[in-house]
Amino acid sequence: MERLALGVLISGRGSNLQALIDACADPTFPARIAVALSNRADAGGLDRAAAQGIPCAVVPHRDHPDREGFERAVDRVLRDAGVGLVCLAGFMRVLTPWFVGAWANRLINIHPSLLPAFPGLDTHRRALDAGVRFHGCTVHFVRADVDSGPIVVQAAVPVLPDDDEARLAARVLAAEHRCYPLAVRLVAEGRVRIVGGRAVVEGAAAPRGAALNPCDCASS
Ligand code: GAR
Repeated sequence: MERLALGVLISGRGSNLQALIDACADPTFPARIAVALSNRADAGGLDRAAAQGIPCAVVPHRDHPDREGFERAVDRVLRDAGVGLVCLAGFMRVLTPWFVGAWANRLINIHPSLLPAFPGLDTHRRALDAGVRFHGCTVHFVRADVDSGPIVVQAAVPVLPDDDEARLAARVLAAEHRCYPLAVRLVAEGRVRIVGGRAVVEGAAAPRGAALNPCDCASS
């Protein structure tokens, strides 16, 4: 089995990178990490990757006068590593249409909300302020508009009455760590097609029924 070569782009602690490292440790998982790349030399996730013997690269955005120069340097690292799928995992640089086009349909991102709700930053604070009963995360193909593009996998988590930002973020992050390996596996297995701007997943089991929050436990 030829495993799909991943380039994982991070800017920080890299817990989603770790989830992908753990998934790829299973020899039956259809992908492997070819390179972990960060725009910040102090990204904690680089230590996690290096500890596993995964090739690491640092491309500091400040070394480049403009976004495109930075992205061309990132692109070169990814191509040299033979990457087939780029996974943004807490990569906090907005990408230009040039980079998005160069990796069209081979570029996915994880975002900490149920898109299209709460694109952008501070998603957990905004979900609490809005009083939504469910929050979650999304893995999607990247398009030029920030936090848009065909959705591959979403996970919903309940928002509980005494949640604060930290508690809700931790619940969503645990869901992210399940979502990202699943999305990568589906893409690597060739089970995701993009049809009319939406991602269609073949042969995946659908969950049953509706989740209610709050649920009227007395009547169920
Ligand atoms: C994750 O929650 C990810 O969804 C988010 O950054 C965090 C990175 O954590 N990404 C974005 O907000 C992108 N817009 P990690 O470094 O521990 O994986």
